[in-house]
Amino acid sequence: MKSIRHLLNPLDLSVEEIDTLLDLASDIEHNLPKYAHVCDGKKLATCFYEPSTRTRLSFESAMLNLGGSVLGFSSADSSSAAKGESVADTIRVISCYADICAMRHPKEGAPRVAAEFSSIPVINAGDGGHQHPTQTLTDLLTIRSLKGRLDNLTIGFCGDLKFGRTVHSLIHAMVRYPNVRFVLISPPELRIPEYLRDDVLLANHIEFKEVGNLDEALPELDILYMTRVQRERFFNEEDYIRLKDCYILDRKKMKMAKPDMFILHPLPRVNEISVEVDNDPRAAYFKQAQYGVYVRMALIMTLLEVEKPC
Ligand code: CP
Repeated sequence: MKSIRHLLNPLDLSVEEIDTLLDLASDIEHNLPKYAHVCDGKKLATCFYEPSTRTRLSFESAMLNLGGSVLGFSSADSSSAAKGESVADTIRVISCYADICAMRHPKEGAPRVAAEFSSIPVINAGDGGHQHPTQTLTDLLTIRSLKGRLDNLTIGFCGDLKFGRTVHSLIHAMVRYPNVRFVLISPPELRIPEYLRDDVLLANHIEFKEVGNLDEALPELDILYMTRVQRERFFNEEDYIRLKDCYILDRKKMKMAKPDMFILHPLPRVNEISVEVDNDPRAAYFKQAQYGVYVRMALIMTLLEVEKPC
């Protein structure tokens, strides 16, 4: 029997496969009409048990751009999960209705459970504070398009590095490229999880430092990856309120950054990037959201084994 390919973790794709996928996404960006019918007759199910704007709608936009159709639900409350249905049963049913499924779930590992019971490809569209591999593909495409490379970079991650699944996924992916170093900027309470520091960074001899001051870190960065403090993952509101505005990137701070340092943010933004920064040519976060559509088109084609059109 033919095996089904899922995307649950950024490391499910080799560096070579990521290169091929990003090349396809770039071709899609520059030749969009060529891809308008490659998924005619195919259906994407978006099963979102947690709120989303970009991931769900960019997946839907991606499938529509490819000529396919979309179906799904956008909250656990509007699905039979509210009546107690398991993820395993839900995906068995979705497999009868669609050709591919993108799933977001607050429980870490839920998309992996779905994949075990699925007869269609399952894409992890974010699981708890764990991983967000399609955001990582979006980030890789954005960095490669803006900087022309994925190696020889100093990347600063700033904000909630404890709960920020986009940070965890991107670090996992970037350690595979030569001469990438990280500056991890956060308050002590929101540092990256121990497993990431020990099993990924230290184990792979990656150069990194953990600092608390954004101003001091800014001049050395090629990329600044800002993140929101994740209110929904905090156990108490007091801690959230104390930490939520610990970093605010504004025009004054941007004067300390290199002229070719780009700002990325997975969005949504709350207060951590002042709106006055949006017009700075180095602000790349809305462009990044656009890249998310191209890379998800490329991913759908890859997992469905759709041929690239001539
Ligand atoms: N970047 C991201 O995952 O955004 P949404 O939560 O809006 O999908």
